[in-house]
Amino acid sequence: MFTKRIILFGGKGGVGKTTCAAASAVHFSRKGERTLVISTDPTPSLADIFELGGTPEGPLAVGENLWLWELGMEEIKRMWRRKFGPEVYEVFSAFVDIDYEEFTSFITSVLPGLAEEFMVDHIRELCRRGTYDRILWDTAPMGQTLGLLRTPSMLREHLRPAPRIYSRLRLGERTRRPLLEILRQWEILSQQDILFLQEEVEICLVLIPEGLAVRQLERIERELKHYGLRIQRLILNGVILRGSSEFLEEKADQQRVYGSFLKERYSHIPMNEVPWLPYEVKGLNRLSEVAEALFSEQGREDRGR
Ligand SMILES: Nc1ncnc2c1ncn2[C@@H]1O[C@H](COP(=O)(O)OP(=O)(O)OP(=O)(O)O)[C@@H](O)[C@H]1O
Ligand SMILES: [Mg+2]
Repeated sequence: MFTKRIILFGGKGGVGKTTCAAASAVHFSRKGERTLVISTDPTPSLADIFELGGTPEGPLAVGENLWLWELGMEEIKRMWRRKFGPEVYEVFSAFVDIDYEEFTSFITSVLPGLAEEFMVDHIRELCRRGTYDRILWDTAPMGQTLGLLRTPSMLREHLRPAPRIYSRLRLGERTRRPLLEILRQWEILSQQDILFLQEEVEICLVLIPEGLAVRQLERIERELKHYGLRIQRLILNGVILRGSSEFLEEKADQQRVYGSFLKERYSHIPMNEVPWLPYEVKGLNRLSEVAEALFSEQGREDRGR
């Protein structure tokens, strides 16, 4: 059902992003695709869902054709430091007298969106290397994900006047490149990242059939549009199939109102439904059950575009 190699699972806290990303990963790996499920949530739960009992460092094989990578904030910062630290330091140390270690730990913790932009860049790099046929990208709750999506274009806007201001300044100890050129490179990098998001990443929004989630959808769609991005698939998770008690019946009736509204209002976005299961989704068997609901013909509420 997904059309791109990289699928980003976004949505509000606790709606089932990680569950759906993990279940999709199980599905693709069983189809024989080399699959990576990667989390960039600073408080990740992917390893827990796969019952690993700890966070692995780097991609870990968790099944045939299936790798899991949970990137915590510390690892993201470390990787950023390795890849971009020296160059950014070189630019900043032209103005400020600061020690390298102090500088990178300061900048990775305070600059908004830096880790997020790095993540986009990191996933783009993974995609370019071609090690995996499919990458399922489990993100942080929506507020932070929107920050992530916003970062490349925000950086681009901020960098725009920079070359004019600093064009005369030359740096050079390490790279011997003029500052202007370094900044231009950064701008290109941001542009590539946003283009990558626009063209190669399929944005899948997970939501539950409740009023608040449905009301937030409009705002999310608007924000994404602002950055040339759009929701390409909706997953309606936690759908009560039938009520076996008065309580559940009532709950199911309420959900149906929102389900119908979504189908009508967002008829341009394909939507899948996942039933609410009577247990926590943990381990391969239960993930398979969610995958089955997501990918099987019957479970599919795929109305195309
Ligand atoms: N269809 C479902 N049926 C039953 N339980 C579910 C279903 N989907 C998710 N859950 C449970 O709901 C909880 C939250 O799911 P999950 O961790 O996937 O959400 P999330 O959106 O990734 O959360 P966070 O925003 O905290 O990262 C988990 O305990 C999971 O097992
Ligand atoms: Mg999660």
